[in-house]
Amino acid sequence: MRLDKFLANMGYGSRKDVKTLVKKKRITVNNQIVRKADIHIDPNKDQIMCDDLIIEYKEYIYLMLHKPAGYLSATEDQKQKTVLDLIKKQDKVLEPFPVGRLDKDTEGLLLLTNDGQLAHELLSPKKHVDKTYIAKLARNITDEEVKQFAEGVLLEDGYVTKPARLRTIEDNMVKITITEGKFHQIKRMFEAVDNKVLYLKRLSMGSLYLDKNLDIGEYRELTTEEVSQLSSK
Ligand code: URA
Repeated sequence: MRLDKFLANMGYGSRKDVKTLVKKKRITVNNQIVRKADIHIDPNKDQIMCDDLIIEYKEYIYLMLHKPAGYLSATEDQKQKTVLDLIKKQDKVLEPFPVGRLDKDTEGLLLLTNDGQLAHELLSPKKHVDKTYIAKLARNITDEEVKQFAEGVLLEDGYVTKPARLRTIEDNMVKITITEGKFHQIKRMFEAVDNKVLYLKRLSMGSLYLDKNLDIGEYRELTTEEVSQLSSK
């Protein structure tokens, strides 16, 4: 990997900024001052330092975002705000993208990463990753509907959903767990039984739970433990 790319990826600015650092003799590779920014290094073997600081190599970034309503689950959009607008510049260097979609008006847990393999594993229909939401509904659910959701709901397009767990947590509020991620799935499931979702928030995805300390719009990096638990599914 080129040194300037490595430094840029690790948050040391643009390639131009990196060139300046090199010119000022602030960068060493294996304790040797480097003179050119475009030399090749092995990030897993070489020790790269800026001033007295060892730069640890990081290939992947994993961010847990408490998504607010009003943001698209996309990396860019011509007109509307996207979840990437909530991420600081230095955390965008490794180009994280949202793992799956929450609707624009849905809040809650959204994972952003540049780890394509993990994203694929979490989204693959074959893996049946649990996703739990709380939903505020227009009316209370019936026992019959709990049974119907457990057996599968016939949507307007003829698709029958996989079993979903549904339980009331308070008046007009339910917790629902689904294992798929069809377009507007939860809203369409309730529409199929003549109900309506008024508010929707995702609480968890697989082993990952929305951190209660994250205010709406805030995010943090996943811990190593959270990443390894997610990957081991
Ligand atoms: N189901 C929906 O209807 N919307 C979401 O954002 C997620 C699941």
